[in-house]
Amino acid sequence: MKKCLQDVNVKNKKVLVRVDFNVPIANGKILDDTKIKAVFDTFYYLLQENCKIILISHLGKVRSQADKKKYSLEPVANYLKEQLNREEVYFSKENYGIEVLNRINEMLPRDILVLENTRFMDVPNKLESNCDAQLAEFWASLCDVFVNEAFGASHRKHASTYGIALYVPSCLGFLMQKEIGMLNRLVIHPVHPFTVIMGGAKLDDKMALIESLLPKCDYILCGGGIANTCLKALGFSVGESLVSDSEETIEKIKKLLFQYKEKFMLPLDAIVSSTYDYNFVQYKLINKIQDNEMILDIGTKTLQKYSTAIMNSKTIFLNGTVGAYENEKFANGTKELLSMLKKSGAVVVVGGGDAASSVKNLGYGNAFTYISTGGGATLTYISSENLVALESISEGAD
Ligand code: 3PG
Repeated sequence: MKKCLQDVNVKNKKVLVRVDFNVPIANGKILDDTKIKAVFDTFYYLLQENCKIILISHLGKVRSQADKKKYSLEPVANYLKEQLNREEVYFSKENYGIEVLNRINEMLPRDILVLENTRFMDVPNKLESNCDAQLAEFWASLCDVFVNEAFGASHRKHASTYGIALYVPSCLGFLMQKEIGMLNRLVIHPVHPFTVIMGGAKLDDKMALIESLLPKCDYILCGGGIANTCLKALGFSVGESLVSDSEETIEKIKKLLFQYKEKFMLPLDAIVSSTYDYNFVQYKLINKIQDNEMILDIGTKTLQKYSTAIMNSKTIFLNGTVGAYENEKFANGTKELLSMLKKSGAVVVVGGGDAASSVKNLGYGNAFTYISTGGGATLTYISSENLVALESISEGAD
């Protein structure tokens, strides 16, 4: 058992919290604050315990000096100050060195200090991403207790996610506990009938997830590039549709399609556009796709077929989208599926960045049982029942 925040005495202590503030930002404006708000309970608890709170997070992929201009955490610190309605939220432009130590020495109880993006330490030597021991030890030296609350980044073996806990007492924050508890209870040990809706672009990225879910689920309903690759593996012509070009992936999915043929459901019809004119949109049966056409959404017969499985399910896990829903012309399948899920009365868990965004963008943000804050981390946890960042967290209760 990993130590949890409530098992550790944090009263009056310096607490370093690794959060996942990797949020979409445009012109300094936070476009989706779900991951920020998701850790507020931990902040309120630490404030109540009179802690000095130091926050660290990554933001984006930082590969050059120019990226540092794009990916400062300063807008997030400002947003946090506003949302927590606390003057005592500060930002440090540095995340390493004597200035940080001095800044922390000046902190008063209940101050919150947000350090600059951990991935700034990736330029030039990838110290954060390569889990540099000296960097992890420095960050550990800033605190009495380390709290890992960055569920969305916990599949990364980085200095800030994995390394710090090797040098200082550590525990899991409330969001971490909730994410793992929900995924264990609802997806890894689901109530049957259990249906998986698997959409998204790339089958290669989802193979491990699909393999882990197939023995557990009763049905797997496919859409997007995943369905196109399955259809191709079965010998259908899918024209210019998005498919995996890996022979290995195609061979593997072909085997799974036969092994679990009672569980797989594939599209019967589609909304396609022509490669000559993206705006030339047509309805097609799945065996009538021409060489110059691209499948961009599922059709009505597919929705009807999928609805039988959905309406009979007690648990549904949604990952990815079944069409290019950002374009209104190809949004019907995704919209209709979400409406069916709402009506189904099943426990519905949404996992993965694209599925979570589609659910929120189409107005279903509060309609389902649980929307995980993780993208890759959620999928990694479901397929392996582990996250590397959990491994270094202290064991047992105090
Ligand atoms: C996410 O948004 O999925 C997490 O913050 C992880 O980000 P990363 O893929 O850049 O490590």
